[in-house]
Amino acid sequence: SRADEAKAMVEAHTLLKRFYHHLLVHTKEGQAALDYLQVRGWTKETIDRFEIGYAPDVPDAAVKLLESRSFPLVLMEKAGLLVKKEDGRYVDRFRNRIMFPIHDHRGETVGFSGRLLGDGQPKYMNSPETPIFRKGTLLYFFHEARVSIRKRQEALLVEGFADVISAVQAGVDYVVATMGTSLTEEQARILRRHAETVTICYDGDSAGTEAAWRAAEQLSAFGCRVKVALLPDGLDPDEYIRTSGADRFAEEIAAARPLMAFKMDRLRRGKNLQEEGDRLRYIEEALREISKLSSPVEKDYYMRQLADEFSLSLSALYEQLSRSKPEQP
Ligand code: UTP
Ligand code: MN
Ligand code: MN
Ligand code: MN
Ligand code: MN
Repeated sequence: SRADEAKAMVEAHTLLKRFYHHLLVHTKEGQAALDYLQVRGWTKETIDRFEIGYAPDVPDAAVKLLESRSFPLVLMEKAGLLVKKEDGRYVDRFRNRIMFPIHDHRGETVGFSGRLLGDGQPKYMNSPETPIFRKGTLLYFFHEARVSIRKRQEALLVEGFADVISAVQAGVDYVVATMGTSLTEEQARILRRHAETVTICYDGDSAGTEAAWRAAEQLSAFGCRVKVALLPDGLDPDEYIRTSGADRFAEEIAAARPLMAFKMDRLRRGKNLQEEGDRLRYIEEALREISKLSSPVEKDYYMRQLADEFSLSLSALYEQLSRSKPEQP
């Protein structure tokens, strides 16, 4: 049945996860990969905690192991662990890569991402979509971070595996990653269900910044309070932690600004607020943004700020707000 198949797929992933981890930490084959990880600044404890592994540079290590444990190879191909060649033979999908196991939200091992030891393309090779691995419904490390996220009512959202791992090593454990793709509705819903606030800390390059704005819009549409931390010099969280240290990283996260503050800045740009026309236009546009907020507390906060700044009565602003409809997305 489908459930039996899914169960076997998870068992195979769990088996391979242990195999790859063993090769990384206990064998000569894994030494270069282990050196690479240690040069990246990850400790033995971190490597164990994330169950990082190494897929050896042979075509059939996984094939042999899975066969010896009587896993049907057809099913293992469906699970994304093997690839079927034109001649009908099966080979390993992952070869000579550092292996990051990916867990679902119950903690089952459902996929892998394999990183090259150096440069090249693709840098990360991921499990394909399978019955147990649907990337858009998962957040990397969520099964571990969940308790902290709930307790703090805050999640730190980053782009990649390395960002999560370095953040956790730096003591920030309420962190999850989208794994490079843009945030899906399902992921936004999951975050909202567990946390009031989501702090986005994507890569500081232009792609990351663009993606951060899209994720921010998405999350606020789902009712999250959104804060954005922009790292300097195009760095990603992992690079920033390595170069500036855990304390500076914690400061950057603490200094994350609410999405609304960025929006207000943008609305101000190119306007002369001393001029009546520009001022009215600014207030009008600001109200439109405020009207999109789903939290009444947050709404009130920005209404008061606006009233104070332009010496307006709060009731007049609320009157205006009730007429100001958010733009259709
Ligand atoms: P990045 O290109 O920012 O990689 O992609 P990274 O996380 O900084 O990786 P390192 O530090 O060089 O090891 C962010 C995320 O996008 C996904 C991965 O989840 C990665 O962590 N990605 C990236 C892929 O799935 N495939 C790729 O080829 C590249
Ligand atoms: Mn171990
Ligand atoms: Mn990037
Ligand atoms: Mn990155
Ligand atoms: Mn990186």
